[in-house]
Amino acid sequence: MILTSSCSNSPRTVETSNGKDGWLKGTDSEKFDVVANQLRGFDMAMVETSYRYQELYWAGQDENWEYALYQLEKIRKTIENGLERRPKRAESAQRFLDVSIPEMEIAINAKDTTFFYESFDLFTNACNNCHAQEQVPFFTIKPPLSRLSPVRK
Ligand code: HEC
Repeated sequence: MILTSSCSNSPRTVETSNGKDGWLKGTDSEKFDVVANQLRGFDMAMVETSYRYQELYWAGQDENWEYALYQLEKIRKTIENGLERRPKRAESAQRFLDVSIPEMEIAINAKDTTFFYESFDLFTNACNNCHAQEQVPFFTIKPPLSRLSPVRK
């Protein structure tokens, strides 16, 4: 049952408040804009990607292949969601999604540390290739030097 659009005493032009202490104000349309703004754009997708990229690296060192696969899947998800919010980035991301992630997945499934780290270097190059294409080459990605993660094997 659809309750949203046709209720005559709450047309979309009426201003109301939602959320704790009514922080979400305005018409329905204005509230969607506020929520969209809070969801952010590609930057937050990249902050999450960066964290998961580091976790992927250490998962390889621990030979924790299940954790590695988990992190790779979440990188895919966060980039896909980021592209939904910022479709102008999609063209540059295509090769990363279609080639780099599947190749990294093959390396994880091989459960071979040497192969994993060779592939991880290619994966890192793919991050930097997209940064170059998107005119943000100053985000130079290199494998992490020290571990911050509490997830260890
Ligand atoms: C679409 C291609 C694309 C791919 C693939 C990509 N990036 Fe990015 N990255 C960007 C863009 C664009 C920005 C700048 C975002 C902005 O200005 O909103 C960025 C920004 C960043 C930042 C800075 C985020 C911040 O706000 O502090 C980091 C860190 C980062 N990327 C890491 C990575 C890593 C690690 C990978 C690979 C696992 C990767 N990126 C893959 C496009 C990409």
